Amino acid sequence: MSIRPVTRVTEAVPTMEGAGVRLRRGFGFGEKNEFDPFLLFDDFRGERPSDYLAGFPWHPHRGIETITYVLAGDVTHQDSLGNTGVLGAGDVQWMTAGSGIMHQEMPKGDAAGRMHGFQLWANLPSSLKMTAPRYQDVKSKDVAEVTDDDGTTVRVIIGEYWGKKGPVDGIAANPQYLDVWVSAGRKKRLAMDTRANAFAYVFQGGGDFRDASEPTGVLTERHADDDNPVRSTAGNRSLVHFGRGDEVVVRAGDEGIRFLLVSGRPIEEPVAWYGPIVMNTREELQTAIHELRNGGFIKGEGQPGGR
Ligand code: CO
Repeated sequence: MSIRPVTRVTEAVPTMEGAGVRLRRGFGFGEKNEFDPFLLFDDFRGERPSDYLAGFPWHPHRGIETITYVLAGDVTHQDSLGNTGVLGAGDVQWMTAGSGIMHQEMPKGDAAGRMHGFQLWANLPSSLKMTAPRYQDVKSKDVAEVTDDDGTTVRVIIGEYWGKKGPVDGIAANPQYLDVWVSAGRKKRLAMDTRANAFAYVFQGGGDFRDASEPTGVLTERHADDDNPVRSTAGNRSLVHFGRGDEVVVRAGDEGIRFLLVSGRPIEEPVAWYGPIVMNTREELQTAIHELRNGGFIKGEGQPGGR
């Protein structure tokens, strides 16, 4: 077994998105494709309704999948095909936008005024960019949850873990999306697909993702364009970038640690990006923009330019 080295720890950056939602962006709209097949990761967490109530009103998506995971409050979802639903605490929506949808996502806080959710964008390979839109809405009770002898708990959203299979299926990049809790002071090794790109995002407590066999204070990995040794400790709102290997190791700090562990096999295709529309070429983007302005963006029944 080889442990994935930590190549970098970054903090999610305060960003304004939608109609004025204050959120933190782990990554997104980058030049480099280091998270391929993933394109963007946002943590929308607010204690005050004014941080999030403006929401994400009507906007298009094409060529990608958006994965929404709610921890507190809820998100009302509505789209141009007539689909509608509410995601509550613990619920997941895996939306394959494919050929195109127009939707809105409106967060509402819980009784205490708090909202917390994550949105991840996964790219689709060229062969599936124009596939029919598909929703997989998963209620919290249907998310597989496993607890280890030492109290480590893993919620399996997609992929397989400790013999449990997540409820989301049929996704191109063979992704894994886990919500992991490790109790204070515990050390855990978590197996990973060697061919996948992987990241962790800490949202409670903190810990260390260093290979525990290394002597304390000695860090072997250095970031290519940085003279500072790589920090391997990760607190709240930290994004941990991993190199290659077949497992991730974590040692929880005094408060324990809760993080998302996300991985997927890279698509390795050219990316042409226009906001929520991600295709392979500029021509495909121009077609999408033309269709948005002149009609025909939404494929399928009752729409001009349908399948
Ligand atoms: Co959206």
